[in-house]
Amino acid sequence: SVPRVYVTRQIPPEGLKLLRESGQVQFDIWDSDDVPVPRNELLKKVKGVDGLVCVLTEKIDPELLDAAGPNLKVLSTMSVGFDHLSLDELKKRGIRVGYTPDILTDAVAELTVALLLTTSRRLIEATHQAKTGGWGTWRTLWLCGYELANSTVGILGLGRIGVAIAERLKPFKVKKFIYTDVAPRPELASMIDAEYVSMDELARQSDFLAVCCALTPETKEVCNKDLFSKMKNTSIFINTSRGGVVHQEDLYEALSSGQIAGAGLDVTVPEPLPTSHPLFTLDNCVILPHIASASYTTRNAMSVLAANNLLLGLKGEPMIKELKL
Ligand code: GLV
Ligand code: GLV
Repeated sequence: SVPRVYVTRQIPPEGLKLLRESGQVQFDIWDSDDVPVPRNELLKKVKGVDGLVCVLTEKIDPELLDAAGPNLKVLSTMSVGFDHLSLDELKKRGIRVGYTPDILTDAVAELTVALLLTTSRRLIEATHQAKTGGWGTWRTLWLCGYELANSTVGILGLGRIGVAIAERLKPFKVKKFIYTDVAPRPELASMIDAEYVSMDELARQSDFLAVCCALTPETKEVCNKDLFSKMKNTSIFINTSRGGVVHQEDLYEALSSGQIAGAGLDVTVPEPLPTSHPLFTLDNCVILPHIASASYTTRNAMSVLAANNLLLGLKGEPMIKELKL
């Protein structure tokens, strides 16, 4: 019989078209992009499915896998991140997992550079001042920020995205790239002439510190008081990976006390971050609503890749991008 699939979001049309026209699956979908599928609806809809296409707002945990039952063989997430998936459980149950790395690297790197410059050159404050009457005269130290020229850029977690960010920052005359990770990554590091340093040195030396690691039990809240207290008070912290890597109360303290100069965040805990959150009161904190991969080209490519991973997985063939569990 034709495999049954549930799609937890109205993903971009190119991926849906592929699923529809494959003739290979029969699928049901949560037909909205504006509201995530409610948990109880999801638990009902996954019952008996052979495949599941999800996005990062769905927690794929034992409860959900139990609700789906033993037919479920393939999970395809339209994301590079996989912290919403219980990998141990998926492995135990023999469920294969597809994801969407690489194709979003350019979009994420572009956004990271944009967020870095927006934060370091205080662009949000500046446009606000310009349109609300704060622009008195040209002033010598007004709205001054920090420049990339001659700076040291630190990368926490060197992968494809970290390399792509560094490649884009190099023409801004960065003096030195440093990185830390669980182990040195000489092949990636040589592409950008980055030096491997300890977490301590990364904090101490970085003028700009970009978080580019996956969220795992090992990286949870590694950006905490201990790290911020070692950073320069002229340094800028940027996170486009996952909010969970940061201890947010500690970050708030570091920003409000002037321990560090500024932060640009594309990711927070929770998402959406409530508008009443203290971080929103800080002029030196720029917060974006998780848009790093949000270009039309990339999101469409992600939906196509997610659909192809699913279809290949259901045929028992190697996926284009499969997580090694
Ligand atoms: C976005 O955050 C993703 O994981 O693709
Ligand atoms: C800036 O506009 C300058 O002329 O220095």
